[in-house]
Amino acid sequence: MSSKILIIGAGGQIGSELTTKLREIYGQSNVIASDINTRNLELVNSGPFEIIDAKNFNAIKDCCKNYEIDTVYLMAALLSATGEKYPMEAWDLNMNSLFHVLNLAKGGTIKKVYWPSSIAVFGPTTPKEFTPQHTICEPTTVYGITKQVGERWCEYYHNKYGVDVRSLRYPGIISHKTMPGGGTTDYAVEIYHEAIKHGKYECFLSENTSLPMMFMDDAIKATIDLMQASAEDLTIRSSYNLSAISFTPKNIYESIKSRIPEFEITYQPDFRQAIANSWPSSIDDTIARHDWSWQHSFDLDAMTDTMLNELKKKYQ
Ligand code: SER
Repeated sequence: MSSKILIIGAGGQIGSELTTKLREIYGQSNVIASDINTRNLELVNSGPFEIIDAKNFNAIKDCCKNYEIDTVYLMAALLSATGEKYPMEAWDLNMNSLFHVLNLAKGGTIKKVYWPSSIAVFGPTTPKEFTPQHTICEPTTVYGITKQVGERWCEYYHNKYGVDVRSLRYPGIISHKTMPGGGTTDYAVEIYHEAIKHGKYECFLSENTSLPMMFMDDAIKATIDLMQASAEDLTIRSSYNLSAISFTPKNIYESIKSRIPEFEITYQPDFRQAIANSWPSSIDDTIARHDWSWQHSFDLDAMTDTMLNELKKKYQ
C-alpha cells in the first residue's frame, strides 16, 4: 500500500484534517501538504510542505515530479457563498485546478486523483428528499456549476483515458479544528463556536432550513475508504452521493441548548438562504453503501457532544 501523496489546498477545512489522517496512515514523509500560504503553522511544521497555487500547472507538475507523487487530493476550491461574490475567480480556480490534475494523470505523471464534489450540484428542480444518485442536476450557483461540470470531466477522463479519479458529493462538513470558509453550510460550525464563546448566535439561515450534513471524522473516513477501495468495485466515476445526517438550524440549536440551557438563537437570513433553498434536504447514498461499504458513525447529538467538548478545551 505504499503511496506518495500530494494534498493541494491542505490548509483548508477538510484538507487540514485529511493531511493529519493521511500522515498517520502513510507516514509523515510520504504525505506532502501544499497551499497558497503558510498560515496553518501546525500543518507546515508537521511534515513536508510546499507553497502551491492550484491554478499553476507547472508548480503542481514540478512538485509531483520532485517527490515522485502517485496520488493527488485536490482540496482547493472557492465555495458556494464566496463563488457568488467572485464568479469568475470561482470558475478559474475550481475548473483549472481540476484540469491540471486530470491532465497529469492522463499523461502518466500521477496514478490516482481525489476530487471533492458537493450537494451543490443539485438545484431547485432536483427532488429534495432522499435525492437519488442519478437525477436532475440544474445548479443555480457558480460553485454548483463548477462541481457539476467537474463531475462530467472526471467521468470523461475515466472513460476516455482510463484516469483513476474518485469523488464524493460532500454535504456540509462540521469540524472543530479548521474553520470552513465561504460556504452556505458554515452556520453549523459557527453556531458551536458562538455557543461556547458568547452563549448566543445569529443564524444566516431560517430555522426550518434542512440540509444534508456530516461530522468531519465521517467525511475523512469516507474519503479514505473510497480511495482505498478496489477500482473494480467502483461503479460511479463522476461523484458518489454521500450522506450521514440532515438537520435544520432549529434542530442543532435544540441539541446545543439541551447541553447549554442559556444558549439563545436568532434568525437573520441573508443571500445564503436562497442557496440553501436550492439544495436537497436529504441524500440517498445507497450506491456508496453498496460499492465500498460506506457507513457513517456520528448523529447530531454525538456530533454536538464532541464539538462542545473540543471547543471548550480550545477556548479555555
Ligand atoms: N459546504 C459547501 C458550501 O456550503 C457545500 O459543499 O458551499
